[in-house]
Amino acid sequence: MNYEKIINDSETHVFKVVFPNTTNHHNTMFGGKVMEMMDEVAFITATRFARKSFVTVSCDRIDFKRPIPADTLVELIGRVRYVGNSSLKVTVEIFMEEMYANTRDKVVSGDFTLVAIGKDKKPVRIFE
Ligand SMILES: CC(C)(COP(=O)(O)OP(=O)(O)OC[C@H]1O[C@@H](n2cnc3c(N)ncnc32)[C@H](O)[C@@H]1OP(=O)(O)O)[C@@H](O)C(=O)NCCC(=O)NCCS
Repeated sequence: MNYEKIINDSETHVFKVVFPNTTNHHNTMFGGKVMEMMDEVAFITATRFARKSFVTVSCDRIDFKRPIPADTLVELIGRVRYVGNSSLKVTVEIFMEEMYANTRDKVVSGDFTLVAIGKDKKPVRIFE
């Protein structure tokens, strides 16, 4: 099956403002909050890809390349990278932009594996 169109159509973009309630004592975004946002975007991407019920089963790796200061904008982009039987992998990348300057830098990336489940909470095939 050629998934290219569904992968392109389900690519998910979410913008957020880095408000003070998401930062730590360094005045940069708290890593746990970053992971929560990434997991949510991975979930939305998987759901839009297959329109099935998904749970996160693992996170391979998250690289925090640069801190994300307060008062910036971030864009999270989720894209399906691999499709298995009941599982798929979504890569989530985060780009940071200053609010009042035309800058854009990739700051974080990570890979999430999600599994499609049925009503009995057991894995089901993503596509019949
Ligand atoms: C997701 C869950 C139903 C899978 O059950 P399971 O008995 O491990 O399922 P299986 O061993 O049959 O594996 C199902 C698929 O998941 C994949 N998988 C299972 N554990 C994995 C892991 N740790 N990492 C990557 N893939 C994994 C398998 O490779 C398989 O993929 P495939 O169907 O594409 O070949 C079960 O592990 C679970 O309920 N986990 C808790 C999920 C959760 O609560 N998440 C947090 C909230 S969203």
